[in-house]
Amino acid sequence: MYPTEKLDATRPDFYAVIEQELVHLVGFETEWLAALSNAAALLRHQLDDINWAGFYLLKNGLLVLGPFQGKPACSAIVLGHGVCGAAALRQETIVVPDVHAFPGHIACDDASQSEIVVPIIYWGELKGVLDIDSPKKNRFLPRDKAGIEAFVAVLTRLLPWERVVF
Ligand code: SME
Repeated sequence: MYPTEKLDATRPDFYAVIEQELVHLVGFETEWLAALSNAAALLRHQLDDINWAGFYLLKNGLLVLGPFQGKPACSAIVLGHGVCGAAALRQETIVVPDVHAFPGHIACDDASQSEIVVPIIYWGELKGVLDIDSPKKNRFLPRDKAGIEAFVAVLTRLLPWERVVF
């Protein structure tokens, strides 16, 4: 069953339900491209006030644009550059309440005002990042950070990352 019901973001189990939906979508998926595409679509469908959600995947030391939902974006990001590159290099989540205040922020969509980037680390190896942008300042609160990190943790556990080759 595909998740079509739009969830009420104020319900206490909002992120827990999204994680269940993710498990349904990718739990038995053997194709990483299909799994990441559906993961990006799920986030775009369920999260309010976002204008971009998607993946950059590590290839030869570069973060290469992967499945996403939103406006066209830069196709590659150097490690250490922008919010994505910084989160990948530090291997930690970065929440940016105001992108204009983040030195080196890469503006792909002028509408973006705040952003969260969560690194994807599989068995100690950086595989890429999940990037979500919002047209609202300070969109990503501690609850969202925890929920989105849990989302990435589920994805990291369920996907055959050793087969993510492109
Ligand atoms: N803003 C990101 C670039 C990617 S787009 O937002 C989709 C960054 O600074 O790394």
